[in-house]
Amino acid sequence: MQKKIIQISDLHFGEYKFSEELKNKLKSQIEYENPDLIVIAGDITSMGYIDEYNSAREFISDLRSISDVYVVPGNHDACNVGLIHFRKLIGDRKFIYMDKNDDIVIIGLDSSEPDIHDGKIGFDQLEWLNDRLNRIPGDMFTIVTFHHHLLPIPQTGRERNILLDSGDTLKLLTSHKVNMVLNGHKHVSNAWKIEDMAILNSGTAITTRLYGDNYPSFNKLIINDRELLAYKIKTENGQYRLLARYYLDKYENKQPEFPQAYFY
Ligand SMILES: [Fe+2]
Ligand SMILES: [Fe+2]
Repeated sequence: MQKKIIQISDLHFGEYKFSEELKNKLKSQIEYENPDLIVIAGDITSMGYIDEYNSAREFISDLRSISDVYVVPGNHDACNVGLIHFRKLIGDRKFIYMDKNDDIVIIGLDSSEPDIHDGKIGFDQLEWLNDRLNRIPGDMFTIVTFHHHLLPIPQTGRERNILLDSGDTLKLLTSHKVNMVLNGHKHVSNAWKIEDMAILNSGTAITTRLYGDNYPSFNKLIINDRELLAYKIKTENGQYRLLARYYLDKYENKQPEFPQAYFY
């Protein structure tokens, strides 16, 4: 198996620090990369308004002409009852998709809460996730994406706007030997590995809502049978640097440690 995934997040259409120029550069760079799939890990709008959603939808439609695109909502998308527009214009807030070759599965979750910036997966979604993970064949590379960062991110100041049930979520994901988690939210790219699970955060792709000397960026992830390579790509000029190189333990026939419902 060899897959190329582009991970982007925090587009914030409508935000005053949004850049039309960066948006066009992002699109050309994704065209150039020609990935197998594109994951947008939330915060596609600034305040969840309809005009912001319409602009985001137009951009996402352009990306869909390049590759399959999977989008989860972020805290900003849930402002002002914005998830009504998400559902109508973008798609389901949670989903499971299996690749046509049956070697990769991607699960999307909604970690947003109305009008607050903290996030939560919540009991219902955790149960749903547990049930779906129990049914996934052990030889599939499993990706779970949601907006809020599962683990703290360096160089982002005070830890806030967190995932309130991150401990239970982390335990469920590692128990099922999920291979990779894709998050956004903190506007800083990062890679962690805990047990055998890689946790990748993407930065803000096309805004200048930045910490310190960071820059707008997105991630390119290359997965093959032996390793995961994660690159941070500068949206401005396509320069990239290696974020992480993780050896993948053989993931054939992985079995969940808790085959029955773990939580309840
Ligand atoms: Fe954001
Ligand atoms: Fe966010």
